[in-house]
Amino acid sequence: MTTPEYSPGLEGVIATETSVSYLDVDIEQILVRGYDLIELAQNLCYTDVAYLVIYGELPTPSQAKAFCDRLVAEAEVPDELYQLFEMMPKSTVAMDALRTGLSFLAGYENPELLHDNSHEANLEKGIKLLAQTPTLVVNSYRALNDMPIVRPNPDLPYMENFLYMVRGERPDAESLDAFDRIHICYIEHEMPNSTFAARVIASTLSDMYGAMVGAVASLKGPLHGGANEAAIEFLMDINGEGGPTHAEDYTMGKLERRERIMGFGHRVYMRKYDPRARFLMDYIPKLAERIPQGQDLSSIYSTVENVMYREKGLYPNTDYPIGLLYYLLGIPIPLYTPIFLASRTAGNVAHVLEQHDDNRLFRPRVIYSGGRGLKPPASPISP
Ligand code: SDX
Repeated sequence: MTTPEYSPGLEGVIATETSVSYLDVDIEQILVRGYDLIELAQNLCYTDVAYLVIYGELPTPSQAKAFCDRLVAEAEVPDELYQLFEMMPKSTVAMDALRTGLSFLAGYENPELLHDNSHEANLEKGIKLLAQTPTLVVNSYRALNDMPIVRPNPDLPYMENFLYMVRGERPDAESLDAFDRIHICYIEHEMPNSTFAARVIASTLSDMYGAMVGAVASLKGPLHGGANEAAIEFLMDINGEGGPTHAEDYTMGKLERRERIMGFGHRVYMRKYDPRARFLMDYIPKLAERIPQGQDLSSIYSTVENVMYREKGLYPNTDYPIGLLYYLLGIPIPLYTPIFLASRTAGNVAHVLEQHDDNRLFRPRVIYSGGRGLKPPASPISP
């Protein structure tokens, strides 16, 4: 089915067919392999949902155990990668370090497997990447900030090990529960820019690692994954400038200067509420009790949300509550987008699998607005 049409930013344009996920905006539902993502987040753990996203069905208990054991067993990365991170300029952005780490890992891959885009080979590489990405995410950040490396702990399951590496100590149950549910909300979301980037790259028969590197470069952008960091920084700016009583004026000032407030608006949800934001905001009051400025930040959060709806008719997207929740969990702000990427690795693996299983090169056309029939100068163009 081809309908040549043009829409800036491909707004509303169907890019591909997929069985991985779908945003049913009218009923504010995110379908992942036929299941409601919020119900999955309420009832399952991240690794079970990652299995569903990648394999297309929920795991049996024995499949779930084997999958989790594999993620633990393959979490370590070559020593040279830690050295690479430690050699990087300290000004390197965490997402750029992550991108470099993924490219470096490709060099360690068995060359035959690296260039084998069969379903089995892509599964092999994809699960290895899902296992190793938390180690890359945390230790690239630690190295750039002169913090001690924390290697994956083989005695801890996937998500507990992730938060253990972030904190350098085992997490409490409440933190781990919230961290896991947030991670599920980030796992897969139909065809965002970074997923599309991964599929466009995979469609040239470039490999799984190359597709993941492209997704990282896309997700880094403040209009996309980078919004969770900008969102909490905005709340903290308000808190630093005068606290909750200042929230209305500060927000209005930004809007009057026609500046964007990160964490609001969405290309697909537009005037609808992101179901992930609606689900996750309920975790704020409890976690706000954990830090001194938690209540003030929570109050500012609500005021900004009210102003954005009243003035712009915009609702929060998932990055707005997640930025505050990660802060309340004590996660360093530069880690927010890399953690988002780690979660979305499961979704991106599923999309690269699907692309390579039934590939068609992405190669769109253009509406040309340049000149026609121009004559070059008789003599070489003067310097
Ligand atoms: C993610 O695609 C996905 O699914 C992504 C994601 C995922 O799970 O992968 O959901 C994750 O990336 C969520 C989005 C995170 N980004 C932000 O929070 C950045 C701030 N939001 C925006 O810049 C914007 O809403 C986008 C980029 C998300 C969507 O942009 P669109 O669809 O191109 O809409 P637009 O820029 O044309 O804006 C439409 C109107 C404009 O008003 P007018 O100029 O017509 O008067 O809404 C306004 C915009 O100015 N607007 C905002 C705004 N977002 C839109 N005004 C103030 N603050 C904002 N955040």
